[in-house]
Amino acid sequence: MQPEMIPPTAPPLFEVRGLSRRFPVGGPFGPRRTLRALHEVSFSVARGDSVALVGESGSGKSTLARLVVRLDDPSGGTMLLDGHDVYTAEPRPTLAYRKRVQMVFQDPFGSLNPAHTIGHHLERPLRLHGRAEDAPARARELLVDVGLPADLADRSARSLSGGQRQRVAIARALAVKPDLLVADEPTSMLDVSLRAGVLELFARERAARGLACLFITHDLGAARATADRVLVLYGGMLVEAGPTEEVLAAPLHPYTKLLMAAALPGDLRAPLPARPGQASSIDPGPGCPFAARCPLVIGRCRDSLPVLSAPSPGRLARCHLTET
Ligand SMILES: Nc1ncnc2c1ncn2[C@@H]1O[C@H](COP(=O)(O)OP(=O)(O)O)[C@@H](O)[C@H]1O
Ligand SMILES: [Mg+2]
Repeated sequence: MQPEMIPPTAPPLFEVRGLSRRFPVGGPFGPRRTLRALHEVSFSVARGDSVALVGESGSGKSTLARLVVRLDDPSGGTMLLDGHDVYTAEPRPTLAYRKRVQMVFQDPFGSLNPAHTIGHHLERPLRLHGRAEDAPARARELLVDVGLPADLADRSARSLSGGQRQRVAIARALAVKPDLLVADEPTSMLDVSLRAGVLELFARERAARGLACLFITHDLGAARATADRVLVLYGGMLVEAGPTEEVLAAPLHPYTKLLMAAALPGDLRAPLPARPGQASSIDPGPGCPFAARCPLVIGRCRDSLPVLSAPSPGRLARCHLTET
């Protein structure tokens, strides 16, 4: 084949480039300071991909999720959908963006209005996105898809348990057949017996129509069950990324190793080091954000931020010890 006949490689479905978010902190009379919630995060998601975003509380996971679904704007960096810069294409998110990129929130109690019926919550996005005629029937099908009885459509959100609400939120997000689903701890409110069913539903949507998923979790075990690739966030920075099985079999970053130790059951659990010396994300110093907690810390870690390097193909780590 002539070089000019090779078709251009399709851009990934969704791409995040150098995304940062700082929040102002302190009162009106205090010094102007900012908190670094997210710092130059980059990754891409292809159609049908399943990516887990892992990190402890406060690492920036929800901040990133809110940026991806455009509930918030970044302080720096950009995002591309089908190769187009979303901020240039549409300064405010359009209905089309909202349809293509859906989110399931962590708190199912906050995301459903108790004054409305479940049917209303499911029919509304269908009507908004042009499926008005069969919306009631489709709403009932969606309930069955997430393992709920169809007649739940007539009940108010007030009467549902947390697990039922979470499944309604998942049904609502899938109703408009999004291209990308961002799910913040989507199975945390569910009994173990229901988790597998919900994960299967996501897997079916991925296989059937190329749904891409970005799952947010603080738990590496959940990442193993849901995702082909894992991104590890610490202090708002990507510290490790790679295929889930490879990362879990041989983590590169000391923080990922600690996360794995914390995920072990019972007696095998290694205590996480105390946090008093943890690097503050307000006025962060020049070094690695993990240096204060790192059991393998060396002098350099305190004064220079390691770059994200690729010690082996497909793997990324931000650590002076594995820098290439
Ligand atoms: N709207 C906000 N204003 C100020 N600080 C915020 C805001 N949202 C998040 N933060 C801070 O940003 C950091 C990351 O938060 P978040 O993204 O919620 O973490 P995670 O979801 O990983 O627990 C935290 O220190 C949090 O307190
Ligand atoms: Mg969160």
